Amino acid sequence: MKKTVATFQEMKDKNEKITMVTSYDYSMAKLVDGAGIDGILVGDSLGMVTLGYEDTLSVTMDDMVHHTKAVSRGVKDAFIVADMPFLSYHLNTEETIKNAGRLIQEGHAHAVKLEGGMDILDHVKAIVKAQIPVMGHIGLTPQSVNVFGGFKVQGKSKEKIQQLIDDAKVLEDAGVFAIVIEGIPGEVARIITEEVSIPTIGIGAGKYCDGQILVVNDMLGMFSDFVPKFVKQYKNLKVDIHEAFENYITEVKAGTFPEEQHTFKINKEIIDEFK
Ligand code: KIV
Ligand code: NA
Repeated sequence: MKKTVATFQEMKDKNEKITMVTSYDYSMAKLVDGAGIDGILVGDSLGMVTLGYEDTLSVTMDDMVHHTKAVSRGVKDAFIVADMPFLSYHLNTEETIKNAGRLIQEGHAHAVKLEGGMDILDHVKAIVKAQIPVMGHIGLTPQSVNVFGGFKVQGKSKEKIQQLIDDAKVLEDAGVFAIVIEGIPGEVARIITEEVSIPTIGIGAGKYCDGQILVVNDMLGMFSDFVPKFVKQYKNLKVDIHEAFENYITEVKAGTFPEEQHTFKINKEIIDEFK
């Protein structure tokens, strides 16, 4: 069944958990979608996971459009959200709407995600007004890594907790359909989740959010540059993948791959002339 913004809201209202995971290409998106996930995020985490950057700041609009196109071709039912990259929603409303529009029109995403609260509110409203569903993202927002001084847990002081609650509320008022809350104490995420009537999707934010999201390569154990505390590795695929490559190398060198069953045949009379 096709998932929509309405599905997300219905799930919160019925107390059903919302599941999301990131994807960056056709093959993975197809696997994730086939497993019955509710939402797929084409995250700008692709900067680290697929492009090998240290953070998300180098990711461009063209990168996001390229990967969103690939993901959307692999998806039948999941709701697709695409991240707006660093500086693509800060300059002015016209640039912001144009960039959000590209992710829908060229990438075939269903919604866009922006990091921030009060400070980007005008641009959030402009996108919503352009009939593009917006997902918010507050807490440890990775595009602010240099302002935070590293990937540090946010929302630990009274002042910061109040700011997170206020940000969530103004985002709701601005018309966002859901909010990702990342890297904050579980009890803070619980309060935010109770304070807003739209769904909260947590990552490193404990169990009280209305849904959860993980980076796909993290949960499959395929990305080991760093593994944050909040990640659960449901598989350790990097071990399996390493073993597969080792076996392939060994078999090719030994001449045991390819075998008969991997080889195309031809009529003996035709080929004998060439021997
Ligand atoms: O880019 C990303 O993967 C994200 C999620 C972790 C929320 O923004
Ligand atoms: Na992101």
